Amino acid sequence: MIFEKNVDLTALNTFGISARAAFFASFDSEHQLREILQYVPKMPITILGGGSNMLLTKDLAGTVLHNQILGKTVIEEDDDQVLIRVGAGENWHDLVLYAVDNDWSGIENLSLIPGCVGASPMQNIGAYGVEIKDVLHEVEALHIATLETHRFSNEACQFGYRESIFKRDLKGQYVITQVTFRLSKRPIIRADYGAIQDVLAAQNIVEPSIRDISNAVIEIRSSKLPDPKVIGNAGSFFKNPVIPMALFLKIQAHYPKAPSYPIDNHSVKVPAGWLIETAGWKGKDFGNCGVHDKQALVLVNRGGAKGQDIFDLSQQIIDDINQKFGIQLEREVNIY
Ligand code: EPU
Repeated sequence: MIFEKNVDLTALNTFGISARAAFFASFDSEHQLREILQYVPKMPITILGGGSNMLLTKDLAGTVLHNQILGKTVIEEDDDQVLIRVGAGENWHDLVLYAVDNDWSGIENLSLIPGCVGASPMQNIGAYGVEIKDVLHEVEALHIATLETHRFSNEACQFGYRESIFKRDLKGQYVITQVTFRLSKRPIIRADYGAIQDVLAAQNIVEPSIRDISNAVIEIRSSKLPDPKVIGNAGSFFKNPVIPMALFLKIQAHYPKAPSYPIDNHSVKVPAGWLIETAGWKGKDFGNCGVHDKQALVLVNRGGAKGQDIFDLSQQIIDDINQKFGIQLEREVNIY
C-alpha cells in the first residue's frame, strides 16, 4: 500500500487553504479502503471527499484518506420511482444533472452544491426547500475500528438541520462508501421558495419542469455564492440560528423587516446572513480573507489566506453578533 508523505492539500479543499497532510492515500473501492485502514502509518485519520465543508487551520499530523469511490447503479425501479446507489466519491452536482437528464425528481433543488455524494448525508445538505433527508434511502459505511460494513436507514441517520449521527455520536468512526437515493419518476415540483418563483416568473415559466427548477437554482446560486474555483470558500460558514420568540420580537422592534422562518410557537430561525449584514460585516476585507459581498453568510479566501485567519475572522463575527443581538452563532463548516 502506497502512502504519500507531506502532501499539499491546497487543491483538495474549496477554501484553497495551503496546508499539508503528513500521510496521504486515495481509495476507489471499499476493498481498497479496508486494505489501507490496516496499514495506516499515523493516526488520526481524516477522510477527505470534495473538501467543500472544511477549514484547515493547520497541517494535518495524521493520515488523510481521499474518497474516490465512483459509480451510479439503479438497484430497484418501478413505474413511480427509482433507487439509485451512488459511490461516495461522485461529484454531487454531476449526480443532480444525471438525475435531471433521466427525469428523476428529488434533488433538482440541490443543484450546484459543491462537494461529493459521501458528504451529503454527513451534514444533511439542503437548499431551496429540500434536504437530503427527503430522498435518502440508505447509507453504507465502513466502521473503521472493525472494518465491517454497516447500513444506516434514513431514520438511523438521525437527520436534523445540517446535522446527522455521523457529525455527532459517530463522528470519526465511519467512512461513508455508498449512498442510495429514492428518486421519483413523477416530477414533484418544489418552487415555493421566493427566489425560485422570481426566476421562473422572469422567464414566463408557469409549469416548470425539474430542469427549469435546476436551472433556476443554478442561476440563483451563481448570482449570490462565489465559485470556489475562482474565490476560495466553503458555502455558508455559519448555521442559521434558532432563537426564542421573545428575543426575535425584541429584534423586530428595532428592525421591523427582520426575516425569520417559523419553527414552533416559542422559537424562530433567523438567517445568519441577515444578522451579519446588519452588523456591518458584509463585503468587508481582513487581510487576505473577508466576508462575501453578495451573501454575508459566506467567508472567502481572497488569495493566500491562512485557515487560522479565516477562523479568527469567524470568531470576531461570532463575538460581535453575540454582543449586538444576544445570539450565539455556530459554525457550519468543520474546523481542522
Ligand atoms: N440575507 C441578508 N443578507 C445576506 C444574506 C442573506 O439579509 O447577506 C437575508 C436574505 O435577504 C433572506 C434571508 O437572509 O431574507 C435568507 O437568505 P438566503 O435565501 O440567501 O438563504 P440563507 O438562509 O442565507 C440558506 C442555506 C444555504 C442555502 C440557502 C437557500 C444555511 C446555513 N444556508 O442560506 O446553504 O443555499 O438557504 O436555501 O442554512 C450552504 O449550506 O452552504 C448553503 C449555501
